[in-house]
Amino acid sequence: MNQTTKVKKDGVARMNDKAKQSAANAAVEMVENGMRLGIGTGSTAEHFIQQLGRRVQGGLSVVGVATSERSAELCRDLGIALTDLDETPVLDLAVDGADEFDGALNLIKGGGGALLREKIVAGAAERFVVIADASKKVDILGAFPLPVEIIPMARQPLTGRLEKLDAVVTLRQAADGAPFRTDENHWILDCAFGPTIDNPMELAQTLSTWPGVVEHGLFCGMTEQVLLGNGNQVQAITG
Ligand code: A5P
Repeated sequence: MNQTTKVKKDGVARMNDKAKQSAANAAVEMVENGMRLGIGTGSTAEHFIQQLGRRVQGGLSVVGVATSERSAELCRDLGIALTDLDETPVLDLAVDGADEFDGALNLIKGGGGALLREKIVAGAAERFVVIADASKKVDILGAFPLPVEIIPMARQPLTGRLEKLDAVVTLRQAADGAPFRTDENHWILDCAFGPTIDNPMELAQTLSTWPGVVEHGLFCGMTEQVLLGNGNQVQAITG
């Protein structure tokens, strides 16, 4: 990468980060004393956790269910009380990031590998709010490869089925080159349905019926609102 490209890339990353922070701050303002929260995973959700931690240190009392070990650790460091869905099966509000969202507020999630717990937590919440920067907004989902969490034994049969749907399938790898393991010890197939997923709901239903698929990153009909950051501004989008 040449110097000019690098400077431009760093500038865009800084702008996106500012936007993520603004969206996260707006979500933290929705939190009220005594709430039971679902707490997401990823760089945008980490801004939410940081800001929530500041409010907790200022006296706010909440309990949270974290969607990953990574987010749970950050919550513990900041003094945010954690619970689980056995103890707290219904949550008031879940807040999480997304890899893509469309005009109907369908999402692709799972870039960070936490899609299974993220979907369980979002499903347990009365309100699911997504925080995002403008790079996540698309007309049609599908430029971002769809993460599909699988049982390792089913890799080849599922790859075959996915390829019949014209997906280019890649087994996600960890930094050491071994298959990436989710918090639940599963594998992830990243599926490029490029350039578009024409019917997210239909694909979601199909994937859910395949043996060996534990969960997929299509979140359809779950999101109440997207808080879209743009610099210091935040736009609330409802479906
Ligand atoms: C984690 O598994 C994902 O679903 C994240 O929510 C998603 O990848 C968004 O991440 P960023 O906020 O880091 O862009």
